[in-house]
Amino acid sequence: MSLAEDLDYSLFNDYINGFMVSKVMFTACELGVFDLLESEEFLTFDVIAERLGTSFRGMEQLLDVCVTLKLLKVEMKGGKALYQNAELATLYLTKSGTKSQYNMLLYMSKTTYSCWNHLTEAIREGKNQYMRTFGIPSDDLFEAIYRSEEELVKFMRGLHEIWSINGRDVITAFDLSPFTLIYDLGGDFFRDPIPEADLYILARILHDWEDNKCVQLLRNIYQACKPGCGVLVVETLLAEDKRGPLTSQLYSMNMLVQTEGKERTPTEYHKLFTQAGFQDFQFKKTGKIYDAILARK
Ligand SMILES: C[S@@+](CC[C@H](N)C(=O)[O-])C[C@H]1O[C@@H](n2cnc3c(N)ncnc32)[C@H](O)[C@@H]1O
Repeated sequence: MSLAEDLDYSLFNDYINGFMVSKVMFTACELGVFDLLESEEFLTFDVIAERLGTSFRGMEQLLDVCVTLKLLKVEMKGGKALYQNAELATLYLTKSGTKSQYNMLLYMSKTTYSCWNHLTEAIREGKNQYMRTFGIPSDDLFEAIYRSEEELVKFMRGLHEIWSINGRDVITAFDLSPFTLIYDLGGDFFRDPIPEADLYILARILHDWEDNKCVQLLRNIYQACKPGCGVLVVETLLAEDKRGPLTSQLYSMNMLVQTEGKERTPTEYHKLFTQAGFQDFQFKKTGKIYDAILARK
């Protein structure tokens, strides 16, 4: 093989195996590997397996893959491998980590991963896969997403964990000091009246819905507030040609699999706001996952 072919083949294999990498991380989290190693450093694989009630064979493999992925570190002592958390695991993968993403990982593993198992059908049908995945009708998205107390808590905790990392960048993207009464829109905003405020935050709301429903919601906000009021949208923005960034494209596909919406370009958002009556429209890319849009009446 030529060097170019070698590189192509290596990339091809990385893509093929991508899901295995995610699943290894999810599984180590679910089994409590990182939490155990946070409370007791330097354990051998057999002790870890015993404490977590798993097979020796499976645990040894899991731990060694985690070492290669740089989630764990290993030290050899007296011919035995002693495992401990790497910094990444301590920060993001333990329940107590200062930047813990533990609940989001559980949600990704149990809900998102399961829905993505039906990506082919989602692409074919152009709709979410709650029915096929969980046997839940998806005509009421609220019922599907928040189908149990456990699911609701996991999802909400996961969303909160993401904000603990990304919140600052989006909330400082614009000068929000002119706005005194700020309303973070949640709950059932299609049915309940929208209260009057100076600024409405719509974080990861519009991407759940098709265009008409977005315009309907934005119109309701427009009618509820005084001239000068603002709407701060927090979403991941697609490039205008929709060919990147990859994370935004994948999130958009996730919206297909799990919601009625999609991720959008700045121009697409501008159109929705114009249709709802808003005139002033600015957006800022943060360079991180989530970007910000500020529109004013
Ligand atoms: C993805 S969450 C975003 C929550 C929060 N803004 C954040 O960024 O973490 C979607 C929000 O839409 C609200 N919502 C309102 N009507 C809904 C519906 N019919 N289906 C799903 N979510 C709905 C939910 O209550 C929830 O607060």
